[in-house]
Amino acid sequence: MEMTKKLLSALAGESLAVPPLWLMRQAGRYLPEYRAVRAQAGSFLDLCFNPALAAEVTLQPIRRFDFDAAIIFADILLIPAALGCNLRFVEGEGPRLDPVTRSAQLDGKELGTQLDPVYAALRLVRQDLAVDKALIGFCGAPFTVVCYMVSGGGSKDFSAVDQYLVRDRADFLSLLDIIVAHSITYLCAQVAAGAEVLQVFESWAGLVRPEDWQDCVVQPTAKIVAGVKAVYPHIPIIGFPRGAGGRTYGFAKATGVNAVGLDHSVTLDMAAAVQTQCPVQGNLDPAMLVEGGAAQADAVRAIKTKLGAGAFIFNLGHGITPDTPIEHVNALVRQVREI
Ligand code: CP3
Repeated sequence: MEMTKKLLSALAGESLAVPPLWLMRQAGRYLPEYRAVRAQAGSFLDLCFNPALAAEVTLQPIRRFDFDAAIIFADILLIPAALGCNLRFVEGEGPRLDPVTRSAQLDGKELGTQLDPVYAALRLVRQDLAVDKALIGFCGAPFTVVCYMVSGGGSKDFSAVDQYLVRDRADFLSLLDIIVAHSITYLCAQVAAGAEVLQVFESWAGLVRPEDWQDCVVQPTAKIVAGVKAVYPHIPIIGFPRGAGGRTYGFAKATGVNAVGLDHSVTLDMAAAVQTQCPVQGNLDPAMLVEGGAAQADAVRAIKTKLGAGAFIFNLGHGITPDTPIEHVNALVRQVREI
């Protein structure tokens, strides 16, 4: 008999005395052992495409903190990279890609075998991961991925995206649909390689105008969920519509995701309201984990008090930042697990 995985229990709607715990970006630069492997790999992308090293950094935070889930070390921009967008990471500047201005630029492009190293890394992680830990696969939601593709990288306000949407809405929606199709292929291959839970990161949901919400966020995510569940009906999927505000309420029903990740702008009252609809994940401000001390302890207690009696997964409201002291993460693990 397989040991129960706490993350899967919470995603199935169970309330647990101690919630499952993992952190977005838990493998990363705040860990000295990550920085060592990253230096050995050469670049961030070389690390993503090296199955043995990607598996190693995926497992590092589990060994150090005993988190309840491992998230595969990869990036939401690997799909555009595989589609020929010339992804590179400029040191200190973040991602750069050759900008996409028309959906036809992606005609006939396929993922091919380019993402096979990610699947190989998943298989390696699953072999080494304890049976009570869950393995999470992921992708970016289409709007967020397209934000980077259209802007040629990160941007303050992604104004090129707005302009594209106004200039040729139908073609912009075609671009989203192209990313939907590749994301379904990618996520299904991750499940085949051992992912037991999937998360879809809509990091830029907060940029979307109310009148574009259905077409740009809800529909693309709903299509991905339906496409993956047509092949793997029982795979739990977590949606993370960062900055969605009041639109977080009803998001699970509208998209079909099993659970919703909440960012730290979501009030605990709103979080509790969403929790009447589906399991919720979140939402400690990553800045609290940098601050540590009593402020962190109080914030953790407030979240547990408000959400701990329902189906709940403890996480941050966004990724852990590189300046986070490891001692504060150790304290977090104790605070989340004390009854
Ligand atoms: O959570 C994990 O530990 C798994 C790995 C993971 C990474 N990126 C590794 C990474 C995950 C789940 C992501 C998701 C991701 N990537 C998102 C969605 C979540 C979010 O943060 O909103 C986005 C928008 C990206 C795109 C991306 N990747 C950017 C903008 C950057 C540069 C900014 C930065 O933090 O450096 C990255 C690089 C990146 N992805 C790093 C890591 C560990 C840092 C690279 C390094 O080691 O130098």
